[in-house]
Amino acid sequence: MGKIAIMGAMPEEIEPIIATLHDLRETEYAANVYYEGNYKGQEVVVAYSKIGKVFATLTTAILIERFCCDKLLFSGVAGAINKELKIGDLIMADGLCQHDLDITAFGHPYGFVPEGDVCIWADSWLKQIAKKVAYDKNLILKEGIIATGDQFVASSERKEWIRQTFKADALEMEGAAVAVVCASLDVPFFVLRAISDSADMDAGFDFDEFLKSSAKLSANFILSMVEKLKNQ
Ligand code: ADE
Repeated sequence: MGKIAIMGAMPEEIEPIIATLHDLRETEYAANVYYEGNYKGQEVVVAYSKIGKVFATLTTAILIERFCCDKLLFSGVAGAINKELKIGDLIMADGLCQHDLDITAFGHPYGFVPEGDVCIWADSWLKQIAKKVAYDKNLILKEGIIATGDQFVASSERKEWIRQTFKADALEMEGAAVAVVCASLDVPFFVLRAISDSADMDAGFDFDEFLKSSAKLSANFILSMVEKLKNQ
């Protein structure tokens, strides 16, 4: 098994993962830090990108091209769109789209650019592994469309527009960028998010309160996936 990339956007999203690693090595590169280490016999490379699609794109490309990871698992938090999703719930991305990508002036649908796709699908084998982990740990793991954009959404109107336009269940600021890079480089990827807020007027407040606890739920699940992958 090759090296597995584990990525988050914020320090809080990867700290619980780094804390478990053995043989930790730090490399500074491209104004960021990459953490190489071992988790229960599996080599991993961990990094947080910083928030947003541009930084996420850069970090994903570096994890693959420079650190030679052959799979990528993303761990973090998201705002809920689907009313069934509550704070702390886990959702894995089935498809990911960019809600802020707009060349509709030229007759294209929202989220689409020529030679791209509105929705990019996560790796089905990694999703199967995740379902097995959820079963083993007796956890509920939801699956749905995740919409990504360079906006912290704290508005019921914007959230409703994203729901209607993309049939999205949750939203965040990096997943679709990770998906575009991984799909382009033919690297299997998986995006997991634990809900931190409901992307409405309370979002900023809830995010501050639940970022750490939700990020840890996601991180713990990702670590169980690494262990399961190692034993495949
Ligand atoms: N990540 C977590 N909550 C979010 C929100 N409300 N908007 C964008 N990204 C988020």
